[in-house]
Amino acid sequence: MSNQEAIEQIVYGLNLDLAWEYAAGIQYAQHASLLKGAAYFAVAEELQEHSQDEFGHAVVLNELIQYLGGIPTTQVAPVYTSMDNDEMLRQDLQGEYDAIRRYLQRIRQFEALGMYDSAQKIRNIAVTEQEHAIDLEMALGIEKKEIPAPKFSFHDK
Ligand SMILES: [Fe+2]
Ligand SMILES: [Fe+2]
Repeated sequence: MSNQEAIEQIVYGLNLDLAWEYAAGIQYAQHASLLKGAAYFAVAEELQEHSQDEFGHAVVLNELIQYLGGIPTTQVAPVYTSMDNDEMLRQDLQGEYDAIRRYLQRIRQFEALGMYDSAQKIRNIAVTEQEHAIDLEMALGIEKKEIPAPKFSFHDK
């Protein structure tokens, strides 16, 4: 594959990422407004912040796509919703897992071309998505399989 073909593939992927960022921004704004109950008040505020983060990511992706010679899409990926609080949070969490998977692929694509600067921009977005996922896992009370703390012997340094 030529470098030009590789760039075209990345631009295709970034446009897909962009359509999902728009969808995530809309989905979080709606979910924040639909969450019911005092116990979810703080969670709703988190989701409002996530919504703004996703639109911020969309702006970064627009700039990156333009920099690579592409035309940024205005399409919006599917938005998922529910009338059930936890179901909404699970929909949001799935979106974050999908986004992280896509961005790790994008980082590999950029680094394969030696484009470490562009890879860094995606890495910054991926870090935020991971924080979003952690917020949602905590809100959902998701239990993780625990890895016990190691027992060190400090005789050997
Ligand atoms: Fe995002
Ligand atoms: Fe996110």
